Amino acid sequence: MEFNLLPGGTITGEVRVPGDKSISHRSIMLGALAEGTTRVSGFLEGDDALATVAAFRAMGVEIEGPHAGQVTIHGVGLHGLQAPHDELDLGNSGTSIRLLSGLLAGQAFDSVLTGDASLCGRPMGRVIDPLSLMGAQLSAAEGGRPPLRVKGGQALQGIHYDLPMASAQVKSCVLLAGLYSQGRTSVTEPAPTRDHTERMLRGFGYPVQNDNGVISLQGGGRLQAADIDVPADISSATFLLVAASIAPGSDLLLTHVGINPTRIGVLNILKLMGADITLRNEREVGGEPVADIRVRHAPLHGIEIPEDQVPLAIDEFPALFIAAACAQGRTVLRGAEELRVKESDRIAAMAEGLTTLGIANEILDDGIIIDGGTLGGGVIHTFHDHRIAMSFAVAALRAQQEIRVLDCDHVATSFPGFDALTRGLGLQISTVAG
Ligand code: S3P
Repeated sequence: MEFNLLPGGTITGEVRVPGDKSISHRSIMLGALAEGTTRVSGFLEGDDALATVAAFRAMGVEIEGPHAGQVTIHGVGLHGLQAPHDELDLGNSGTSIRLLSGLLAGQAFDSVLTGDASLCGRPMGRVIDPLSLMGAQLSAAEGGRPPLRVKGGQALQGIHYDLPMASAQVKSCVLLAGLYSQGRTSVTEPAPTRDHTERMLRGFGYPVQNDNGVISLQGGGRLQAADIDVPADISSATFLLVAASIAPGSDLLLTHVGINPTRIGVLNILKLMGADITLRNEREVGGEPVADIRVRHAPLHGIEIPEDQVPLAIDEFPALFIAAACAQGRTVLRGAEELRVKESDRIAAMAEGLTTLGIANEILDDGIIIDGGTLGGGVIHTFHDHRIAMSFAVAALRAQQEIRVLDCDHVATSFPGFDALTRGLGLQISTVAG
């Protein structure tokens, strides 16, 4: 599928974007391992979250839905999973494979985790290393890539792990293996990352401590089913925050958006660039903070992005680069080497597309320099990465000519219905099979 975009437009209206991907994954995982029935609403019906649903079904968990965002999970308890008959195919989903590797390391049975070409190019050494220290037996293909083969029946031992990179997936992997370990498992991270695993574990009645940044839990407890209301994904809302900010005349209300403090780097960065963003109706829903976000067009200016915001906005940089391209002056990002190992090398992929549109940029090892300017038009390669596709779609609002975005099928991993939803708000987008 391709996106064709006519230049210009204004973004107006009120909308709730699909559910949070990180929270949707975790709701299935913890719901499956809990005792009792977990009801989830607002679940993301995207391919990534559905891959997690399919994996747990393959391990014998009865899951009803999703129907209009409602999922019912009949939990089997921490020791109730059954050996899958086949490899678990996790599609494009890094969160599924990394979190599941921790869970499966503690099972009595063997399993094999694999995925699509993009996932099979992503590094798994980062989960193999701590899990091996805990006594797990798992191996990857060449270069530490999937498929991951997990040997069950190992007695895991709690460890302290000092994360070498800011990664919520690795943190969560270790904590989930910790549920099955003897004694205490603790982690420290170089910078705070999304804490949905810790929050949801507590919501399921499993104590998780955070003592001055040392996050820990005791193995051998139990999870009690709990209902979950998944907020709208701030990472998906980001495309619209940028769209409305850059398109003159825009005024948009995004409702029920998750504003967990570990996820709001995009709001902080856009505000530093001069964006007109206000939060209303702040409330807490099932242990996660939520708000309605109003965003109106405002002239943006380039900034040096504070490095402490990088882990808090890690999935939002492709869209933020479009904001930078439309801003007056220079934007500099450093300390973001993790962007190179996402669904694509997001620094290289964005730099290529920005160059196509006539935006001067310089690639750094750990970031990029972007000089704001006038966007032309052209053909964009997404490298099969959903966030690259959606970023260049919204760029059309400020382009001089048409933009054609190739290979957009992966948009459905995180934001199913992106084209219809954004068309309804004023983006001049059409889809073409291809
Ligand atoms: C996620 C963590 C982040 C993020 C990903 C979702 C999670 O990955 O990029 O989209 O749900 O834990 P890393 O842990 O690799 O930073």
